[in-house]
This record gives sequence, structure tokens and C-alpha cells, in this order.
Amino acid sequence: QRSIAIAKMNRQKGNVIVLPYPAQGHINPLLQFTKLLVSKGLKATFATTPYTIKYIHPSPPHITIEAISDGFDEGGCKHAPTVQAYLDSYKSVGSKSLAELIVKLRDSFSPVNCIIYDSMLPWALDVAKQFGIYGAVFLTTSASVCSMYWQIKLGHLNFPLDKGVFPISLPGLPPLQFSDLPGFIAKPQDHPAYLAAVMQQFETLEHNDWAFCNTFQELESELMKDLEGVWQLIPVGPMVPYAYLNQPTSGDISYGANFWEPASQKYLRWLETKPPRSVVYVSFGSMGTTTAKQAQEIERGLKASKKYFLWVWRESEDRLPEGFLSGLDDEVLVVTWCNQLEVLAHPAVGCFVTHCGWNSVLEALSIGVPMVAVAQGGDQPTNSKFVEEIWGVGSRAEKDSNGVLTGEELDRCIRDVMDGEKSEHINSNVSKWSESAARAASLGGSSEKNISQFIKILMTGME
Ligand code: UDX
Repeated sequence: QRSIAIAKMNRQKGNVIVLPYPAQGHINPLLQFTKLLVSKGLKATFATTPYTIKYIHPSPPHITIEAISDGFDEGGCKHAPTVQAYLDSYKSVGSKSLAELIVKLRDSFSPVNCIIYDSMLPWALDVAKQFGIYGAVFLTTSASVCSMYWQIKLGHLNFPLDKGVFPISLPGLPPLQFSDLPGFIAKPQDHPAYLAAVMQQFETLEHNDWAFCNTFQELESELMKDLEGVWQLIPVGPMVPYAYLNQPTSGDISYGANFWEPASQKYLRWLETKPPRSVVYVSFGSMGTTTAKQAQEIERGLKASKKYFLWVWRESEDRLPEGFLSGLDDEVLVVTWCNQLEVLAHPAVGCFVTHCGWNSVLEALSIGVPMVAVAQGGDQPTNSKFVEEIWGVGSRAEKDSNGVLTGEELDRCIRDVMDGEKSEHINSNVSKWSESAARAASLGGSSEKNISQFIKILMTGME
């Protein structure tokens, strides 16, 4: 009896482990991808570090959550002496831990036939190969940003970069100024460990059975056309809960992971009291930091714009400038964290001042909120260029020579987006992209087809 059961279970197909990098901006899209796969019939285990597991609640239905150790079970990356030490530890401890999970699932009659892993954890592919199962990488940045790293790998962009040769042309991309490059490329000396990890993804890209990217075909169509057949990036995005993609069948209004506790529902009640499209929502994501000087300038800009604003301030209050927001009362609400999706989808919100993290950009595009792009680092400078110049869905703020966004510049950008000459055009573009995102994700849409094809292969073993 038992051997028949084992033989049957070992034939089971369509069972995946999904392994995100343990940060908010990575867990969100990968958790959303997992939910989608499960809704289409796959079985899934979401495996993340003990430190981040506690932020996923309530546990999404039909997804098993398991721990994978990174060697820093108590405090995660924050407890590692350096980024490089953290990545090395996750590689050595995590490989073993992942292998143990695969064996555990096999022994409990639930054998896995694919690992979908965050591109920041390239060693997961070796584990997949070791067990003879499929390996699929998931890239959490735009395809355009991915293509730049790819060009470095091909030797078309060499370090140290010669600023004199800019603007440069790369296949499928608009002419790029030096300031349009991702921070890891423009200033490789600032984050050598991250750059090395990112570059390693591209060394092994073609060894994967699938390489998924959180974008959609239509959004980066020039690039997709130019690189067709040259590299195998498969667009499956936007990874935004379906309720925000005009899919009324889904009631899922959040990703289901919060590294910070959302402030009470007070902000939603506050938004309820404001007229349509009158509020500026300000957030710089989960990783960025804001200096007191910068906060002061943002405050000046917001005051000058005479709009209402909802501001996510994650840092401790003693970093706020003295007299911060004095003279303002009902015009402003500062919260430590919120459900960004619910805020963006609220009719009172008319503008998103964002650092242009890729998730934030996709969320605003999908929900239809125009942006003021205030890039900080990483992939954000490139994203902010596309927001203004390519998709026409916002205004890109220029920083001064000290790297500070001035109040005047912020005020100018908010007006551009909310009531200046350009605002009608910007708002109509963002509505167009919102429809396009919904189409890509709906049945028969470009991303949905790619996901269904993947599922079919995993379930049947047939192309
Ligand atoms: C980072 C990079 O910036 C991003 O480009 C990369 O692709 C992933 O890692 P992060 O800086 O955190 O991410 O920004 P972003 O990509 O925008 O992700 C932040 C997430 O947190 C979004 O999904 C957003 O909805 C959520 N969020 C943010 C909240 O739910 N509440 C908040 O108050 C702020």
C-alpha cells in the first residue's frame, strides 16, 4: 500500500518552492506570484527566513510557509557585519536548509518539481540542479534595468564608466545619460556586494529553465522586440493583487506581508474626508532613508503646493526637523506605515511622490495614480526616467548640487502632475497604462498566457 502511495506521490507534478530575498520589496511580488500560481492549480511552499516569516500574516490560504535559514535567525541582514557576509552566510546555510526542505517535502509525500527563486539568491539554482528539478529565476526589477546588467555581462558597458561618452545607446533602450543608470552601475564602489550579487544572476541566466520578470510585454515592448530570441526573459507582471487590476473576482486587497505594522485605519478615515484627487501621498519605500534637511525641504514643497498630504515616515521621530509641520493641522497626516495599495486606490489620492522602487511604480501605474519621481539609488534613477520620458505618467524631480530635492522643485513637480498644463496629458497616460496592465494580467493577456504556459509544463511535463 505504502509503496504504491509513494510511487503515486512521486509522480505528482506542479509543486513549487518559492524563495524570495527577505526584504519587503522582494517578498511582495514573490508572494503575489505564489498566490497566482496556487489560484491556477499549483501547489506551493513559500520559504523564507525565520526572521521574516513573522511578517507574513495571516498565512495566505493554500500556501504552506516554511523557514529557510540565512544564518541570522534572530535579526536577519541587520545582524550581519557586512552585506557580503550576509549574502555569503545565506548561500552556505540557505543551500543546506533548502535541500533539507526538499527532502522533507519528498518524505511527506509532497515532492517538489520546481524552485522559483529570487535573482538575489542565485545559489538556489544549484540546489534545483542537485535534485534534478526545474529552476526558475524571478527578477524583481524592470526588464530595462535587467538589460543594462546583461549589457555589462556581454562587455558592451565597461567599468570604470567614461562619463564623457554619455548619452549612450543600448539595444531596445532610449538614449541614456549617466544619471539614468542604476546606482549599482553608476557608482559600483558604493555597493560592491550587491553589484556582485546582481551580476551573478546574469552569469547563470541561461542555465535556468525559466527567467521571469515582474513587468508586462506592452510596458517595455521596444526592449522585448529588440532582444527577442537573444535572451529569455519572460514577463509575468505586474505582480499587484488582482483586486487592483480591475479583476473584481479577487478580494485580496494586500500582499499579505508587512515588515512594519500599518498605522490604524485612521489614515483611511482621514482620506475619506478629502475631495477626489486632492491628496499627495509621499513614501520612499522600505529601504530608503530621509535626512532631516531633506525632510525640511519636502515639508516646504508640500506647504507651497497647498495640497493635503499623507506622508509615510518610517524613521524615528527624533530625526524630524524641529518645528516640523507646525502651522499645519488637518492638511497633513504622518504615518509610520500603511497599506500602500489601499492608499493609492483611494479616490482622494491624486499624486504619489515616490522614490520609484519598482513595486511602487508598478502599483501606481496599475492603479492609475500619476507620480513625482524622486529617485534615491538602486534601479530607481532608471525607473524615474521611464516614468517621465517614456510612459509620460509623472514628473521627474531634479536634485540640487548637494543631492537635495528642494521645496521649489517638489512644488513644481506636484503642480505638473496635479494642475499644471501637462497634468491632463499625464493623467490620461496613466489611465491608459492602468488599462494595459489589467489587460496583461487578465485571461488571455500577455502575462497571463506566459504564466499559464509555465503551469501547463509543470503540471503535465509537456510544452
Ligand atoms: C527595493 C527597490 O527599490 C526596488 O526597486 C526593488 O525592485 C525591490 O527592492 P523598496 O525600496 O522597498 O524596494 O521599494 P518598492 O519596490 O517600491 O517596494 C516597497 C513595497 O512596500 C511596495 O510594494 C509598497 O506597496 C509597500 N509599502 C511601502 C507599503 O505597503 N506601505 C508603505 O507605507 C510603504
